[in-house]
Amino acid sequence: MKKVKNILLIITGGIAAYKSLELIRRLKDQGINVTCILTKSGSEFVTPLSVASLSGNHVYSDLFNLTDENKMGHIQLSREADLILVAPATTNTISKMAYGSCDDLASTVLMATNKQVFVVPAMNVRMWHNPATQRNIKILIEDGVKFIGPEKGDMACGEYGLGRMSETEEIINSIIEYDVSLLNQPLKNLTALITAGPTKEQIDPVRFISNESSGKQGYAIAQNLFDMGAKTTLITGPTNIPLPDGPSILKINTAEEMLEASEKILPVDIAVCAAAVSDYRVSDKKKSKIKKVGENISLELSENPDILKRISNRNSNRPKLVVGFAAETENLKNNAATKLLTKGCDWILANDVSSGKVFGNDENQITFISKNKTEKWDKMSKNDVAKKLSINISEYFSS
Ligand code: CTP
Repeated sequence: MKKVKNILLIITGGIAAYKSLELIRRLKDQGINVTCILTKSGSEFVTPLSVASLSGNHVYSDLFNLTDENKMGHIQLSREADLILVAPATTNTISKMAYGSCDDLASTVLMATNKQVFVVPAMNVRMWHNPATQRNIKILIEDGVKFIGPEKGDMACGEYGLGRMSETEEIINSIIEYDVSLLNQPLKNLTALITAGPTKEQIDPVRFISNESSGKQGYAIAQNLFDMGAKTTLITGPTNIPLPDGPSILKINTAEEMLEASEKILPVDIAVCAAAVSDYRVSDKKKSKIKKVGENISLELSENPDILKRISNRNSNRPKLVVGFAAETENLKNNAATKLLTKGCDWILANDVSSGKVFGNDENQITFISKNKTEKWDKMSKNDVAKKLSINISEYFSS
């Protein structure tokens, strides 16, 4: 992981701009060099002198300033930074970013950059919820911009709700976790499909068959592949965790719906089947509630389609790399190696699910199996598993 050392901070014109002064100090405490652009409206709230004194660097404001352009042009400003942080970001700034306006130095730099941009919104709650703002945010997320916050709370205007700028500590935590080596987006020309979560097979209107899958591992994989530049679609069964930021999301319930959604988005370069698909569905789903009859009853189950197997064995549009999981309670290596062959996928990530070791937990212990390699990975967080898998995927496509 390569840590952030240089940040270009863009301070735009909102009342929360005063918080950027503290942000500069705290970033510098982390050993990060901060160069600032202060927009014209930003300078109505904080002065260039205080920004310059705290950052220890020249403050940039004008697009057409001959001295500044001589010393450091707008392209150079972004080139020297590991990432760009817009804090606070006003509704107007977000709108300009979404539509690619460049009528001042800040917006021109944002258009000209190839660096990761983090946006920390700060605005009135109604402005935040306005459909135009939400549309703009969706556009920016799809473009790969990352958002920090906003938070819920009291506002300077006396209202209460979402729109408060995130606390300095949260901004710093998001920034220092950012890995600069992701910048060149090694998967940027690739497409990916991830299945995640459980499926839910209805028995009657009130009962269903499902399993304990939380979706955490699949969601982390979708997030990491997206962050590395892949155009990613996540097909997910019902879960209770936040959706990843950026990938396209398709929500389904049953295994048959998951298969249909997966086949619809082919062709893709990468398929990762992390879902805990219910192997069976009820043959005769009842339209009304099954009544208690005072004796044993039995349910006939039909086998569900095996999505991983279907994708792996396609004659047309087979993804270049198909990755499956193997949830095993015994003979982990042998069972997983057999699954690699019977399913026809390229890699298997095997995990031991005996005694609730995986479902819902934040950590995972993986054994990686391909045709010519078996490798036991250290126990690590599901996010680190996702990161390691994504790095392996990017090496596979670059070799
Ligand atoms: N899988 C799938 N569709 C199914 C069943 C499983 O796509 N109907 C995928 C899972 O997403 C996982 C892999 O197949 O990537 C292995 O799942 P697992 O539950 O370990 O194995 P099963 O095939 O269900 O076999 P068994 O339950 O007998 O171990």
